[in-house]
Order: sequence, then structure tokens, then C-alpha cells
Amino acid sequence: MADDEPILSARGLSLSFGAVRALDEVSIDLWPGEVLAIVGESGSGKSTLLRALAGEMRPDAGRVTYRDASGEALEVHAMGEPALRRLARTEWGFVRQDARDGLRMGVSAGGNVGERLMAVGARHYGDIRTEAERWLERVEISPSRIDDRPGQFSGGMRQRLQIARTLVTRPRLVFMDEPTGGLDVSVQARLLDLIRGLVSDLGIAVVLVTHDIAAARLLAHRLVVMRHGRVVEEGLTDRVLDDPRHPYTQLLVSSVLAA
Ligand SMILES: Nc1ncnc2c1ncn2[C@@H]1O[C@H](COP(=O)(O)OP(=O)(O)O)[C@@H](O)[C@H]1O
Ligand SMILES: [Mg+2]
Repeated sequence: MADDEPILSARGLSLSFGAVRALDEVSIDLWPGEVLAIVGESGSGKSTLLRALAGEMRPDAGRVTYRDASGEALEVHAMGEPALRRLARTEWGFVRQDARDGLRMGVSAGGNVGERLMAVGARHYGDIRTEAERWLERVEISPSRIDDRPGQFSGGMRQRLQIARTLVTRPRLVFMDEPTGGLDVSVQARLLDLIRGLVSDLGIAVVLVTHDIAAARLLAHRLVVMRHGRVVEEGLTDRVLDDPRHPYTQLLVSSVLAA
């Protein structure tokens, strides 16, 4: 695949909920191996954008194009459900803010990781278990917890388990919605470090939604700033945060610095 073409492109995405224009002609590009953060205050349309990009929500207008592993350009909103589900299983991953939405709570930690492997064709029980153990270690969960269920884990561990479950199949593109939201600040820092290391080791392209500017600074190569469903500014992370041009970005950055 040519690295000089975006892995994901959105053009002119608009989506309204009644009178609320959640997305207003949003266009973005994501490059292979790039971490792109969508930032903005609560209600600015970040999660809606993520869901529209991932085919979970259909925009009123606009299109999303994904360039798959074979280099084929797929129109996400023109794909049928089965094809989209297959893509979500094989080439994509999704990390939810609440790990309970991304895990199967009735299945063991090892089962949660192994299940994704089986979904892409792994069959050998011993190999699956070994790989699950390896991934638990990789996200700093003791392999001795492999048979425990996620309900027996702390919030931070659950989130790390969700990350293992998502990354074990080595997706090319991962969507993350506030992956550190709702966790204690000390837990957040460790999780961010972990995510940063894994994403860079695996060379995954990530669309990261966050209202946390510090998280965006740590993880993202590039930022898109949203307000009222529109992109008001975008650019390389350091440029946008150190030299914000739009008054809204200036406010967003300064309110964090003052916090
Ligand atoms: N399913 C929905 N039904 C109605 N309104 C929604 C729905 N999802 C989002 N919205 C509205 O769309 C706007 C953008 O929401 P959202 O994308 O969740 O913002 P963010 O993730 O930036 O906090 C908000 O005004 C929100 O209330
Ligand atoms: Mg949101």
C-alpha cells in the first residue's frame, strides 16, 4: 500500500439530531501510522464524528473512504453490514470510554483477548492462550489473572484489558473515544504511556477523541479542534498547542494551562 495516501478520509460530513448540528461539513484525513486527536469541549461533536468515521452512525451528507490492507478504497457508508462487521473484526479496533462497552463481562480476561484472535481465524487453543498471556503481560496485567472476569478488575485494569483485546489482532486502524476518561489521574498517566508505547510499536493509525489536551499532546501527531460540529483549527500537535491561531483553540489551551 502506498503510504502517501490517507488510510481514512472524510469529506463534508454533516449530521443533525433535530435542531442540533452535531457535524457540520467535517473533512479530515488520517495517514498510515498517524495518531490524530479530535479535541474540543463536551458536546462539540467528537464522538459523533468518530462514530460516523467508523460506520456506526450514518451522516446526512458526506462520505468516508477507508483504504484497506490490499489498497482498495472502500466507501464506508456504502458497505453492507456484514462487510463492515468483517472490517471491524479484521482491520479495525475500537476502544470505548467505558471498558464495559468494549469487553464481554461474562467472559474471562483470557477469553476476551482470545475471542478476537478466534474471530480472525485462530483455532489452536494452546496458541491462543499463550498469545492471550503475552498480551496480558504487555498491558501490565499478571497472566495469573487470565481466568478472572473483567468485573473482578479495577477500572484501570479493565481499560488495559480492553486495549489488549483490541490490539491483539494488530488492527491497522483504531478508533478511541476518551480512553482515559473516568479514570483517576494517576491511572490515566500510566494508561497514556502504555497506549503511546503500543501504538508506536505496532505502527497503528489512531483516531483519538479526547477533551483532555494533555492526553492529546502526549499521544497525537496531529490535532483537529472541533467546536459546534465544525473543525475550527487543525495542524501538528505542537504547533496547535504552542501557537493556537483560532480564538477557541486559544481558550481551550489556556483553560487547561490555568487548570
Ligand atoms: N444520539 C443522539 N441523539 C440526540 N442528540 C445527540 C445524540 N448524540 C449526540 N447528540 C448531540 O450532538 C452534539 C454532539 O455530541 P457528541 O458528538 O456526543 O459530542 P462530544 O463527544 O464532543 O461530547 C451534542 O449537542 C449532543 O447532545
Ligand atoms: Mg464524546
